[in-house]
Amino acid sequence: MSHALSQSTASQSIIGKPVVSVRGLVRNFGAGNVLDGLSLDLQPGSFTALLGRSGCGKSTLLRTLARLDPAPEGTVHLPDERAVVFQEPRLVPWMRVLRNVTLGLRHSDAEARGLAALEEVGLSHRACAWPLTLSGGEAQRAALARALVREPRLLLLDEPFAALDALTRMRMQGLVETLWRSHAPAVLLVTHDVDEALLLADRAMVMANGRIAADIPIPLARPRRHGDPGFIALRSRLLAELGVDEEHLATREPQRTEGRASAAKPGGYGLPAGAAAAPSL
Ligand SMILES: Nc1ncnc2c1ncn2[C@@H]1O[C@H](COP(=O)(O)OP(=O)(O)O)[C@@H](O)[C@H]1O
Ligand SMILES: [Mg+2]
Repeated sequence: MSHALSQSTASQSIIGKPVVSVRGLVRNFGAGNVLDGLSLDLQPGSFTALLGRSGCGKSTLLRTLARLDPAPEGTVHLPDERAVVFQEPRLVPWMRVLRNVTLGLRHSDAEARGLAALEEVGLSHRACAWPLTLSGGEAQRAALARALVREPRLLLLDEPFAALDALTRMRMQGLVETLWRSHAPAVLLVTHDVDEALLLADRAMVMANGRIAADIPIPLARPRRHGDPGFIALRSRLLAELGVDEEHLATREPQRTEGRASAAKPGGYGLPAGAAAAPSL
């Protein structure tokens, strides 16, 4: 049964010492707290999706976990081996793909490691290409290779597929799942797509009011299918947690969300193809 407990996912680490531990995190930009006493733990090798309305603070949390932003209040315990992939690939345009991947690596065999990472993401044939000659999907593969080559224990993904077309997005989702299985980092994936969360993650956290407002296990066997009863039930539950009314959605005209192509696709927010897209979270 598809919604039976998964027997062999990489996230089935025995609950023990978390690889990420956050307590009482507060962050504000002048007007009110974006993060307001937020706490969370991530277990080694777990795959967690982070959802929430646009502007609720998901990227702020991810930047703090990447140590790109300060954490003025609260405690944050993180592994040293971290990597982050953003919605845009952020490649250095005047460096070839391989050099982008190995940038900052101090290993004597950095080039071999970079080539191996490119091989894993199916991009070794583009190692000598300039970033601007890559397609959107290729550029995100390069960004994934750059993350992978650091052998992260924590992989932070901030809507990494949001700018990709639907087909490329599906391929990238499969690639991320494969890489997670083989390397077993703890993954925290920010997404506004409920289906994406249910396809990939074993836990979904919903952010609201600067905290984790809901923490929902996703005990579905893999590979996952949209039509499975367990999948459908969890989709309804997640949409409810996000304050999205499915019946209301089904009667709406499709509309774009946050100006991103992927959000306009049928099935955005996990609705079946043919259903209308949801308003911005
Ligand atoms: N550097 C910043 N300066 C001022 N306000 C910011 C900054 N970064 C984020 N914010 C504000 O914090 C809130 C949360 O932003 P963000 O974390 O990007 O949300 P999300 O990723 O959930 O859409 C928003 O209101 C945003 O405008
Ligand atoms: Mg964001």
